[in-house]
Amino acid sequence: MKIAIIYASKTGNTEELAYLLWRLFLQINSDTALFRVDQFPVWDLARFDTIVIGTYTWGNGEIPYEMMELYRAFETLEVRGMITGAAGTGDSGYPRFCGAVDEFRDMLYVQTNLAATLKIEVIPQAKDLERCRKFVDSILQRINQKIALG
Ligand SMILES: Cc1cc2nc3c(=O)[nH]c(=O)nc-3n(C[C@H](O)[C@H](O)[C@H](O)COP(=O)(O)O)c2cc1C
Repeated sequence: MKIAIIYASKTGNTEELAYLLWRLFLQINSDTALFRVDQFPVWDLARFDTIVIGTYTWGNGEIPYEMMELYRAFETLEVRGMITGAAGTGDSGYPRFCGAVDEFRDMLYVQTNLAATLKIEVIPQAKDLERCRKFVDSILQRINQKIALG
């Protein structure tokens, strides 16, 4: 199973989350790649069986500009069978906490086989590890279901 984690991060929080998720996936699936969104070849999206989005939130609950090309690619490419997850960091002091995760969730739910979402307050801490594990497990479970169904 080819898994890609694709993230955007301005000040490093989401990068930290993406690395943590990457390490957790690697414990089970060695074919898991980590990309900063500006290094990910968007036209190659459909080559992956599973995509995990890592995004911070900008403006008033908005998706960062650098994620928009990827967001639109999900709307235009043939990705219906793809298993996805949406994760991100945000600051609950803002009215729309992790709004970009909500935006990705709504779109991925329609366009793909969305397995899980995860919102982290600012930067992952030891107390968040269990939720991160559950997020990864939900996605791996969905992959196993798909394999079992053939
Ligand atoms: C101008 C600005 C607007 C932001 N707007 C939101 C927001 O609407 N909702 C939210 O949850 N966090 C918001 N944040 C907080 C960031 O998403 C949060 O700090 C995040 O962890 C940054 O991730 P990064 O370190 O990967 O860049 C905002 C931060 C800034 C500087």
